Amino acid sequence: IVGNNDFLTEDYPVMRRYLVVESDDDMDEIAGKIKGLDEEKIFKEYEKFRAKYSRKTKKIAEEFLGLNVENYREVEYDKLLTVLVPVYNTEKYFKEYKKSKKGIEIKKDILELDILNKKIDKGNFEHFMIKEIYDEPLVLKKILDTYTLDNKIIISENLINDLKESKSITILGCGTSYHAGLIGKYVIESLVKKRVNVYLASEFNNVTLLDENTTYLFLSQSGETIDLKLAYNLIKDKSRIYTFSNVLTSSLCMLSKESFDLCGDIEISVASTKAYVSEVTLLIMLAYKLSNLDKEFIDNIYICINSINKTLKNTSLIKDLAFKIKDYSSLFYLGKGIDHFINLESSLKLKEVSYIHSEALYSGELKHGSIALLSKDSFVIGLLSSLKNKSSFMNNIKEVDARESKYFLVSTSCNDSDFIFDCPNEYFSPICISSFYQLLSYYTALYKGLDIDKPRNLAKSCTVE
Ligand code: G6P
Repeated sequence: IVGNNDFLTEDYPVMRRYLVVESDDDMDEIAGKIKGLDEEKIFKEYEKFRAKYSRKTKKIAEEFLGLNVENYREVEYDKLLTVLVPVYNTEKYFKEYKKSKKGIEIKKDILELDILNKKIDKGNFEHFMIKEIYDEPLVLKKILDTYTLDNKIIISENLINDLKESKSITILGCGTSYHAGLIGKYVIESLVKKRVNVYLASEFNNVTLLDENTTYLFLSQSGETIDLKLAYNLIKDKSRIYTFSNVLTSSLCMLSKESFDLCGDIEISVASTKAYVSEVTLLIMLAYKLSNLDKEFIDNIYICINSINKTLKNTSLIKDLAFKIKDYSSLFYLGKGIDHFINLESSLKLKEVSYIHSEALYSGELKHGSIALLSKDSFVIGLLSSLKNKSSFMNNIKEVDARESKYFLVSTSCNDSDFIFDCPNEYFSPICISSFYQLLSYYTALYKGLDIDKPRNLAKSCTVE
């Protein structure tokens, strides 16, 4: 939003820090502290400052972009610009600022940002993580409200044309967003028959062969992950980069040709849940749009909403399973095809919040090595959402059983399952079944008495390499 190339360096495409303070006194205090310090020290002060404030203010500090025309102070050090912003009555400041122009370019008309009026609380829930899982049906409804009209998917023509015209699609993300990208690859390749490459942003510099005629889709809940910003710098043709994020004012959105709202609103819990569902849903939506299957997509999303609601209504089975697995030191998630990608995310979620080691394995690969780990002390969670995989998957489960390992089966239809979920077809299973796995991780962490919303060693938005 602020400045343009003046603040860009080769390594860091966007060098901006926004501090949000609550009064002039606070602003004087922090301005005095950081004046003349080098970049690293300013960042440390910034972190200390943020830590001092309430969750709400911290969240605002992370998400909010704005300027108070009358009072803002800038501290410039080398290519770093720090803007101090009072948070009261921001809408007014935005409007005045827009009028005043002051020689600083406003790149996009995003001034309606109204974060102060957004409710950031847990409602009746004990933690943000569970609240955010229960938000998922609402997120899906918001996606339909935002991106569909009269049974049609309505999304930027530029994006659709670029996707159609380019030879391949390249998706970049980190952590949960990367896992959403893998689902996108599976669905787009199956339905649209177009090559999709998915890369971890942190490994993008190690990719040796890149498609030239490609459209990039950046997935980032926060829009601020440093690995993605660094990957952005490596892309030579930046004219076809699109970002999907919850924060349309974020650096990555600003750097992109166009950006799209994940419709997930603010996600507070470090473990991403509803943002994952949004990312997956939007990628599936693109696949359906490119295949002219708009109405099918919309109808299927309604089925997903009902399916998630069903899971959320009766959690006793999930709680029982969580109670069983909480004492295991390691777990295996088995599946094939799209189920493996779902399992990668389920496994990450369990690690993040319950600190239990887990691995997602292709069930057919078990016999090629990992089966050596199975014994009567192992626990396996199997997922089967497509009948085409039934016979080989069930053979693999027999192997698990033969090792006397405990197992739990999740499927869309198989009679031997411990949990059956409704789902229109395998493409939508990540949307329908994620709440089950997210709740499993949540309750496991709860029974272990862990700090669910802020797991050790993790940050919601990774702004350092
Ligand atoms: C951090 C978070 C993860 C998240 C990843 C990517 O590592 O702990 O939950 O998936 O960043 O974040 P992004 O905001 O780019 O989606």
